[in-house]
Amino acid sequence: MALLETQGLSISFGGVHAVQGVDLQVEKGEIFTIIGPNGAGKTTFFNLVTGYYKANSGRVIFKGDDITHLAPYHRTKKGIGRSFQVLMLFRDMTVLDNAMVGLHCRLKSNLAGALLRTSATVREEAEGREKVRQLLHFVGLDGKEHEMAKNLSYGQQKRLDIARALATDPEILLLDEPAAGLNTQDLASLTDMIQRIRDRGITVLLIEHKMDLVMSISDRIMVLNFGKKIAEGTPDEVRQNEAVIEAYLGKEE
Ligand SMILES: Nc1ncnc2c1ncn2[C@@H]1O[C@H](COP(=O)(O)OP(=O)(O)OP(=O)(O)O)[C@@H](O)[C@H]1O
Ligand SMILES: [Mg+2]
Repeated sequence: MALLETQGLSISFGGVHAVQGVDLQVEKGEIFTIIGPNGAGKTTFFNLVTGYYKANSGRVIFKGDDITHLAPYHRTKKGIGRSFQVLMLFRDMTVLDNAMVGLHCRLKSNLAGALLRTSATVREEAEGREKVRQLLHFVGLDGKEHEMAKNLSYGQQKRLDIARALATDPEILLLDEPAAGLNTQDLASLTDMIQRIRDRGITVLLIEHKMDLVMSISDRIMVLNFGKKIAEGTPDEVRQNEAVIEAYLGKEE
């Protein structure tokens, strides 16, 4: 059984068929990458998988359950984590607090516990903070816990967004163009980080334009063009695919 599956997933905006009949199966433990030209429907596909958009037709299946009509929050709870193409950090909150936001879907304490500061709540918060500190270390933000998010470099903000997503304890992590805007050094540590995320047992579903990165770390690739899947396979298969060369890779030269 695939970890994540979509069947005939489709959505239109006015006359634009942003995602059209996309069938996809992502296996547990893969680094699976979606590529395609600007406007191909990649981010829209993520929004359908995470529940930010409601599909016009088709289904999303996660761990064997049909989650097509589940709200985003419940998909996060089931184990679908994501980072954002356009960063949505709380700029005037600390790095630690931003990452703690990701934790909330896992907290058991209720409002009464929070108001009364029961020992269970206090313990859970302390454990949460420790977990988040370890994640900040994992993404290379040690020592930045008390910095305001807005004072981080762009590369550091992207790492913080990944730490926040990891704090939701995902089984699959969706990363939307994590390499965009990174310098060479940040790019190298991102490549390494994505592999370390997979080594933690988290399946990675990636959207990326940087072809060196895509070809070096992906187990499999799906190519979207005008909302449709035009190819799927290993990096070598996709590289040699005529439709892909025409639609996408050819344009780069
Ligand atoms: N909320 C929306 N309302 C209207 N049109 C939308 C909406 N979201 C996406 N679209 C349209 O759907 C199409 C696919 O957009 P999408 O953002 O998914 O592309 P993309 O593959 O992620 O592109 P990029 O590589 O530039 O990020 C585009 O034509 C876009 O304008
Ligand atoms: Mg996009």
